Amino acid sequence: MSTRFRNFQPVDTDAVLALWDKSRSTGFEPVYSLAEVLASCNEDHAIVAYDSTSIIGVAVGRVAHEQGWVVLLVVDENYRGLGIGGRLLGELEVDMAKSGITKLSMLVADDGKSGVLEKAGFIDLKHLKYFEREVSVSERERELLRDLGGRVLERDLWDKIAGMKNEKELLERRLVLPLSDSKLAEAFGVEPPKAIVLFGPPGTGKTTFAKAVASRLDWPFIEFFPSRLGGDKNGVAGGLRDVFTSVDELENVVVFIDEVEEIASKRKGDPPSPTQGVTNELLKLIPSFREKPGRLLVVATNYIRALDDAFLRHGRFDYVIPIGLPDAEARESIWTRYIPASAVGTIDLSELVKRTAGFSPADIEYAARKASQRALEQSVYESKVATKDSSTTKTEHYLWAIGDTRQTVSDEAIEEFEQDIERLGRL
Ligand SMILES: Nc1ncnc2c1ncn2[C@@H]1O[C@H](COP(=O)(O)OP(=O)(O)OP(=O)(O)O)[C@@H](O)[C@H]1O
Ligand SMILES: [Mg+2]
Repeated sequence: MSTRFRNFQPVDTDAVLALWDKSRSTGFEPVYSLAEVLASCNEDHAIVAYDSTSIIGVAVGRVAHEQGWVVLLVVDENYRGLGIGGRLLGELEVDMAKSGITKLSMLVADDGKSGVLEKAGFIDLKHLKYFEREVSVSERERELLRDLGGRVLERDLWDKIAGMKNEKELLERRLVLPLSDSKLAEAFGVEPPKAIVLFGPPGTGKTTFAKAVASRLDWPFIEFFPSRLGGDKNGVAGGLRDVFTSVDELENVVVFIDEVEEIASKRKGDPPSPTQGVTNELLKLIPSFREKPGRLLVVATNYIRALDDAFLRHGRFDYVIPIGLPDAEARESIWTRYIPASAVGTIDLSELVKRTAGFSPADIEYAARKASQRALEQSVYESKVATKDSSTTKTEHYLWAIGDTRQTVSDEAIEEFEQDIERLGRL
């Protein structure tokens, strides 16, 4: 009997599986997984080629809007060169055309044999590359995240942190390395960290770093403020418990508690203060949070010396990391980040860097915005007096804005911070 063609039927499943296995063992590299192919066999379009004894080829397609995709095309190796692949494609196209496709595409491995495709009129678009990435969060997890006010962050936050080389390197080594490759860490006997404290003056980038770590790991990020948990029917302690219970269902997550001093400040004798119950609750929740791998608790505070000693005891937090003011090099990077690309070459950066010793990244960001706003207004409203290169922000705008920006972190606060690093820092 000569080769015949017909639509796929569920009874063909085993034969298609056998064909898949046989082709795999002779070097065929599928682009789509077997599960996807089988799903398409049943739900989309599939044509089989058969002779008197068995199924000898299969073509499977899927339609997305007006574009058809061939997700599988295989012919038994004993039947190659007989034009069966071309016929399969032809039959598949006829079947898919009923769905209104205007284009039929196929991805093949780079070394895939494309002779059949070219004969069937497909063009090898050499300038195309195929990209893919795994979706790290399932749909169910996304729902849970939505309920918790969490989200998956953009992927480039880590690279967007300008300067802060020492802090970045420290976090990269202590957190990102062991968490992103826990098998490697294990091989060296390193227990990946489960919880850390970030402390430092306001606006130095604690929140920014917490998010950047989540982004770097590609883990979802949940942030909560103790002050906002008060609305829970069981109070702040109940709110905390609820958050930690829900988080338990996520495969990976970074949980961030900002302003943690609000709930974990020093417990003072009796009568117990209302926050004491909350501190106790958090102290109870941390050990069970630590039990499961793939999760990181980050807490941040401006005022670490106010934290309860029990809170910072060994065993709860793996690291207590200071995030300080940017040094000259970091300030230069931060300035560069906020100065428009078209203006950056014309600005006296070293002067800005010198004049902003003691500024936090947030202060620099503020001054930079102010300078840009001023330059914009001048260029639009005062163009009569403007010279012809008035269309960019200039050094003088920045110097004016710096003069008009108050340094958030006082010298006294810096001194206290230095003492805190000595006494409480744990790297
Ligand atoms: N290294 C950096 N490069 C560029 N911008 C930065 C950097 N660090 C912080 N910023 C910016 O400064 C601002 C303040 O940063 P962030 O909120 O992370 O500070 P914080 O330490 O959490 O402050 P707070 O103690 O007030 O909570 C943000 O707008 C952030 O984008
Ligand atoms: Mg913050």
